[in-house]
Amino acid sequence: MAVGIFDSGLGGLSVLNCVQRRLPEVEFIYFGDNANAPYGVRDADDVHALTVSAVNRLWEAGCDLVILACNTASAAALRRMQEGGLPPGKRVLGVFVPLIEALTERQWGDNSPPREVAVQHVALFATPATVASRAFQRELAFRAIGVDVEAQACGGVVDAIEEGDMILAEALVRGHVDALKRKMPAPQAAVLGCTHYPLVEQVFQDALGPGVQVFSQGEIVAASLADYLGRHPDMKGAGAAGFLTTGDPRRVSDRATQFLRRPIAFSGA
Ligand code: DGL
Repeated sequence: MAVGIFDSGLGGLSVLNCVQRRLPEVEFIYFGDNANAPYGVRDADDVHALTVSAVNRLWEAGCDLVILACNTASAAALRRMQEGGLPPGKRVLGVFVPLIEALTERQWGDNSPPREVAVQHVALFATPATVASRAFQRELAFRAIGVDVEAQACGGVVDAIEEGDMILAEALVRGHVDALKRKMPAPQAAVLGCTHYPLVEQVFQDALGPGVQVFSQGEIVAASLADYLGRHPDMKGAGAAGFLTTGDPRRVSDRATQFLRRPIAFSGA
């Protein structure tokens, strides 16, 4: 019994960590498309094709439910996959909707019409592809009115993290926060709209200042998944827990072990 967690690379481990802590009885199969990361500089068709292929692999591994723990894939592929039809009994969920539900203080899965909410000035930090898709603004508009979103495409951060160059990643984050603040001097909330960014969350918080509430997806996705599985206990699937990568399993395992600070062993997808 296992739920699939998909990311373009290592970033989704930040989500995996939180869902495993929240749901210790559930098994997960993690799929990192490390050979094709970063997704954030690819066009939407390309991201869609790669995401479909990874999700098919997770169906083969026995999953019935796959979480696209990758904002870029959620932005470019989720709606298209859902509208194109999934195999019977299979579900794919993304990470934007739970994040927006948390930001707008809604119950999980509340699809009532958009309404005014407390937060009005939101900074979105995401990959260039996610920013270009405007998927965050679109999903937000279904749930809230009058929210001003300023998006900052954080070029380079994912590559630096995938390469393990945290000093470069931190310097880039500070530069992107400065650029955002030039466009929106006083955001009330900041959304880390990429699964890699929680690995440098403190740098975002320090650069933004203590008055800005930083929303990062791990805990939010975990709470929403717990609620979903409570309502759909039959979606836990079959198959054994594990870690799959399209990249070099040894290299990816080393990086993953470094990020999660516990031994992680990937196999070839
Ligand atoms: N970690 C992914 C995300 O959440 C994408 C990073 C990338 O591959 O560019 O957006």
